[in-house]
Amino acid sequence: MYKKEITTNITFCSIDELDEREKELIEAAKKSSLDAYAPYSNFKVGAALLLDNGEILSANNQENLASPSGLCAERIVLLYANASHPHTKPLAMAIAAHTKAEFCEEPVSPCGACRQVLVEVEQRYQTKIRLLLYGQKEIALLESAGSLLPLSFNM
Ligand code: THU
Repeated sequence: MYKKEITTNITFCSIDELDEREKELIEAAKKSSLDAYAPYSNFKVGAALLLDNGEILSANNQENLASPSGLCAERIVLLYANASHPHTKPLAMAIAAHTKAEFCEEPVSPCGACRQVLVEVEQRYQTKIRLLLYGQKEIALLESAGSLLPLSFNM
């Protein structure tokens, strides 16, 4: 028998402490969240993905009355990136969300299903996807999406 300790390193910062490209990525996530279709939860999420070629793609959550038919912002942008730019690595993802008119105070973290997809995309492209989780109060930075899902599903 043995024990293993798993630690996750998270850096908290303000928007002024980010570089220009990171600020742009967060702005893209915030902007995209405004176009979310979330009439059932009123929780509007935007996710922006920076690709290795410098492009930023963004998407937002799309709900459906038959609830499992909708999808999170993160998975929409990731899967679209993989479909449209299959040979381009994703480097970083920013996530922002708001309810009513206010952006969330605390950093918004991806759900379990999105984490699993993020981990597989990291594996597929042999890369780390840096996460920038936006909150009005502070921004949380993670060097790799994988650190949010230790012991992720694998076969
Ligand atoms: N949602 C996302 O878009 N991303 C997440 O990581 C968590 C939740 C969406 C799904 C649903 O439309 C709404 O937020 C409330 O759960």
